[in-house]
Amino acid sequence: MEPLLTTEQLNAYLTAPYSQWVRMKTRSDALIPMLYDSEIIGATDADSLSLVAMRCLFPDCQRVLQLGTYIGFSAVVLADILAQHKLPGLLVTVDNSEVHLQKAQHFLEVADLLSRVVILKGDDLSSQIREQTALYGPFDLVYVDTLHTHDHTLDILETYVAQAPPQTVFFFHDAGIKQIALDATGKGGVRRALQDWCAAYPATHQLAFFEPPAWNTYLAMLTQKERAEYPVPKVTL
Ligand SMILES: C[S@@+](CC[C@H](N)C(=O)[O-])C[C@H]1O[C@@H](n2cnc3c(N)ncnc32)[C@H](O)[C@@H]1O
Repeated sequence: MEPLLTTEQLNAYLTAPYSQWVRMKTRSDALIPMLYDSEIIGATDADSLSLVAMRCLFPDCQRVLQLGTYIGFSAVVLADILAQHKLPGLLVTVDNSEVHLQKAQHFLEVADLLSRVVILKGDDLSSQIREQTALYGPFDLVYVDTLHTHDHTLDILETYVAQAPPQTVFFFHDAGIKQIALDATGKGGVRRALQDWCAAYPATHQLAFFEPPAWNTYLAMLTQKERAEYPVPKVTL
């Protein structure tokens, strides 16, 4: 089958750092067929996914929430990395499209990862999904990639970020300057929502954009400034 991706995109997916971190079986049985799937366009780009996956590599990253499963490419990558921890982690992934979730479920099964993944169908802002996701939290990482309008992102921030404990790191896809134009409401998409929200909470949250020219990604990372108190070790000179 002819790939829909360009040779350059295909090579990026196949050589990205995460491809060294997933198991050979996952790579050959699930990821390569997914790259040739008719719906692969729309999945997280290889560089952004590597950055999110890097956080999952750390053994303290045990519980991950993904909003926006699509056909499951990043779900397979993240779940595979979590499954390899000494204490295996869990991915909870949410999407409101039955068609997308069926495909994602198929590829997660092919990769033998269904035991490490909870798949939830529904709107990310619905009370049903908020209640269901809360059962599996708190999360170490939340990856947000659903609807990229300004107002939806603000609601996500109020719903998930405002309630999260200090250790939760949030990544938002399509948060670059370039993606402002993608918000048909004209309010500035994910980026402006993040900036507006952080301007309202400057004392508690901090925002970093990973974008060109320094990075070949369009991710924003949101963390809390207030960290848990750790005992200061006593140093005897
Ligand atoms: C850009 S794709 C996600 C790509 C995915 N993160 C990946 O790396 O393959 C966006 C997905 O969000 C889903 N979606 C859009 N709005 C949603 C909402 N309000 N709640 C849940 N899912 C939503 C769509 O069905 C679609 O599958």
